[in-house]
Amino acid sequence: MNDATESSGGSRKKRILTGDNATGRLHLGHYAGSLENRVKLQDEYETFVIIADLHAFAYPKYVSDPEKIARSVFDVTIANLAVGMDPSKVCFFAESSVTEIYKLGVIFSMLVSHNRALRNPTLKEEIRDKNLGDKFSMGFVNFPLLQAADILGVKADLVPVGEDQLPHIELAREIVRKFNKTYGEVFKEPEPLVGKVSRLVGTDGNTKMSKSLDNAIYLNEPEESLKRKVMGMYTDPNRIHPTDPGTVEGNPVFIYHDTFNSNEQEVEDLKQLYREGRVGDVEVKEKLFYALNTFLEPIRERYNHYESRLEDVREILVSGKNKAQEEVRKTMSEVENKMKLDLI
Ligand code: TRP
Repeated sequence: MNDATESSGGSRKKRILTGDNATGRLHLGHYAGSLENRVKLQDEYETFVIIADLHAFAYPKYVSDPEKIARSVFDVTIANLAVGMDPSKVCFFAESSVTEIYKLGVIFSMLVSHNRALRNPTLKEEIRDKNLGDKFSMGFVNFPLLQAADILGVKADLVPVGEDQLPHIELAREIVRKFNKTYGEVFKEPEPLVGKVSRLVGTDGNTKMSKSLDNAIYLNEPEESLKRKVMGMYTDPNRIHPTDPGTVEGNPVFIYHDTFNSNEQEVEDLKQLYREGRVGDVEVKEKLFYALNTFLEPIRERYNHYESRLEDVREILVSGKNKAQEEVRKTMSEVENKMKLDLI
């Protein structure tokens, strides 16, 4: 990323749109995949963060629980604020509050075949992990199109996401080409940006940290449960005694050390000792607990700050709604003009 200012468009900063589904609290996987990049780039890019509450209704677990989704809108916004997103610079808004996004989503659904929508590895993975069988809704199949509307509604240039979201960004890029070719130039293809750890393993060693797999450490994880989760983590299954030489590569405890322990020397020393069978798993985990707790402390503190000021959080979402609405309306009028939907 060298220059976020467009050369042709004068001084307009390039845009980021990214976001999270309103399906509960955010965890370390969200941080490594996307939040860390958002925080880093918030000054360089004009940033929009969408709290995708409509997306949440795509899941059987949430469709009949609007209460939980509404609560999650606040949890997700607070998690973003807690990791250091600055509400005076960043536009936070709820997906449902900008109704033009629904319109754009319906229009995009005319440009994507049903088969193409289903040919999406992340959807397939979710069907498997969440045991959806063949009971998933039309809204579920459609949600990557809605996500394309989230992104293209504000004409984002860059979309920081976890690796699992790449198929959705690819679909958004296809939609851009299809739309522009069919009706005339309106959109530009957005670029994805994946975090330094593209997919963070779960505490159980599963390839993905996920609430539904019950292997997550949350950004507001209290100290006691953090300790319990870390001490119960999956490590090298072939290592029985602390004197056995251990494997560092692919070992979740070391992956977390690499990602969250700022004391690089300590991590290097631990790896060496572990390989030589000179340190026990318990000690490596205790050091990880300390590192994670140090990382999470300021986040927890800001989390609690906003948690006790929900009215402020609501105001952030109201002003974000106004700004996002203005931008998406501009896009919508171009779309309607090209499609001749603006005659009456
Ligand atoms: N679906 C994304 C996730 O599960 C969240 C999301 C919704 C999103 N709309 C978006 C991410 C637009 C990037 C851009 O994490």
